[in-house]
Amino acid sequence: MKKLESREDIELLVNSFYAKVIKDETIAFFFTDIVKVNWDLHLPKMYSFWETILFGQMSYKGNPMAVHFPVNEITAMEKRHFEQWLKLWKETISENFHGENASMAITKSENIAKLMSYKMEMARKI
Ligand code: HEM
Repeated sequence: MKKLESREDIELLVNSFYAKVIKDETIAFFFTDIVKVNWDLHLPKMYSFWETILFGQMSYKGNPMAVHFPVNEITAMEKRHFEQWLKLWKETISENFHGENASMAITKSENIAKLMSYKMEMARKI
């Protein structure tokens, strides 16, 4: 078990996470059917996103909330979907990493998922 401390570590984490996501009964369809994700573009974005959050690299420039609204308009992104996303994310972290950054990656994802879930729910009420 190692610490989460480099871009290579993040790449391993993100790749292993999406390997689970695309096989997942509850959330895979968002990535394979609703949006046909271009992985060559999406994965590097996610590496930069986490690098920015965990190491303050500022390599990610984007609006992570905004991209989810159009998805939510096609198919509701519900609490159970976020719970499953989080379950897979936490599972992938604990299978590969330990230490402060690994814990931070969990805490931050929980906070963002909570906020995102709330925003998606609100957007459906308008
Ligand atoms: C049910 C949960 C979620 C689903 C189904 C989902 C799905 C998606 C999809 C389909 C995309 C678009 C990919 C593309 O256009 O190629 C995306 C992008 C993204 N997601 Fe999520 N997502 C979820 C939760 C989260 C959470 C909790 C986070 C953050 C912790 C997150 C962070 C991002 C980021 C950073 C992007 C890229 C944004 C950009 O293009 O700049 N997602 N997600």
